[in-house]
Formats: sequence, structure tokens, C-alpha cells
Amino acid sequence: MRTKLIAGNWKMFHGGASGVELAAEVARIAARVPNVECVVAPPFTALAAVAQMVSEIGEQLGHRPIGVAAQNFYPEEKGAFTGEISARMIAEAGCHWVIVGHSERRQLFAETDAFVAKKVGVAIENGLHPIFCVGETLEERGAGATLEVVLRQVNAAKEALTAGKGGVVIAYEPVWAIGTGKNATPADAQEVHAAIRAALEPSLRERTRILYGGSVKPDNAAALLGQPDIDGALVGGASLDAAGFGAILRAAS
Ligand code: PGA
Repeated sequence: MRTKLIAGNWKMFHGGASGVELAAEVARIAARVPNVECVVAPPFTALAAVAQMVSEIGEQLGHRPIGVAAQNFYPEEKGAFTGEISARMIAEAGCHWVIVGHSERRQLFAETDAFVAKKVGVAIENGLHPIFCVGETLEERGAGATLEVVLRQVNAAKEALTAGKGGVVIAYEPVWAIGTGKNATPADAQEVHAAIRAALEPSLRERTRILYGGSVKPDNAAALLGQPDIDGALVGGASLDAAGFGAILRAAS
């Protein structure tokens, strides 16, 4: 009943014409893969051009084959915030999605649980679908604190999750698995996904999609996506290649 969602986080790659080209290739592939929702998250500089191209392809096909996400935003409406971009600006650029609280934002840009939770709420208020990331570090896993950390991060956004009425997508991304080639085993990921689902309020539990992220590749996607509480993937490195990303889409289908 939960449609699988595969989202590609391009990080700081493909900001210009190459981004539009990659998104067009992904859109063509996604249009032929049934029963899977697909989203790409280009850098800010390519957002409007990618969104425009996707909407043109959507007009030809009669439906939009992919969604477009921003990778971040700043949770104020406007003001003296040099270098920042608001949720409304993202929506005006033609995006419907936004990644919030990615571990690189938490670690490199000092985003706290409270700040991330605020962003989830502001994204919803602006009509964007948040992809809300949580995950433990290697030290935290080593200390046996995985569930404590992940559930603390999820619970910090409780109000926003309620306001989102099941539309907030949660992405469980163990920090030690991101860009390292080490992914959680399907059973380990499933255990965390099940715990996250159980921690959600009853009305959200069955509706909320929980993605796995961290070194998802064409050859490990099917096993991860076959777990009962894994509703899709947030893919970094492997989303930069249309053929490989397409293989992950097909694994989800
Ligand atoms: P990765 O990145 O697939 O390259 O590990 C995932 C992410 O950071 O979202």
C-alpha cells in the first residue's frame, strides 16, 4: 500500500547543463518503470532548469515521471540571511520536495535536532514534501546507541510529523554507511526501520514511508527493498549515473 520511493541525492555534483541532461535521462527511464515514485535532488543552481524540463516532459507524457527536490533550505521566510534560500523560493523554482537534516548538514553545518525539526515543519507549511534524514554514527552504533539516537532524532520532529499527516518521508541513513561502500545488512536496516515505524503515532504508522540510505547500489538494492519496513531508498553516489540509478528503480518496481 505504500508506493516505493527512490530519491537521488546528487550532493554537490551536476549543477548546470549536465544536471538537466542527467534528470532528462532519469525521467525517460522512470517513465518506463511502473509502481515506483522517483525524485532527484540537484544542487540549487540546476533546480529551476530541471523542474522546467520535468514539467515539459510531464506535459508530453500526461504525467510527471519524476519529482524534483532541493537538498536544503533555510527555515525563515525572508530577510538578511546572506547565501540562504527559503522554502518558498524552492517551491517557486518548481520543486515539490526537499531533503532535510541530511547527516552532512548535521555534521558539517552543525544542524541540531531542533533546527532540523523546525525545517521539517516549515517545509510542510510551504507545501513541500520533506525527506527527513536520521541516522547514527559509527561510534554511536559501536556504543549500542543506534535506536536511542535515531528515535531521539525522529521524536524531535514529532509535531512536524503530525502536521505532515503521513506525508513526511523519513530516511534512515546510518552515517557510517554513507559514501563508504559499507551498507547496513538488510536485517539490520529492517530492525531500525521497524523501530522508527513503531515510534510513530498510530495514525501515521502505516502511511509513512521510511527510506534506507547509505551505499545503496544496483546490486544490493533488491535485498534492502525487499524488507517489509523499507519503502524505498535515498541514493547518493549511485544516483549520478542514469543507468545505475535506473537499475535501482527497477529493483524497487
Ligand atoms: P551514498 O549517499 O549512496 O553515496 O552512500 C547516500 C546519501 O548521502 O544520501
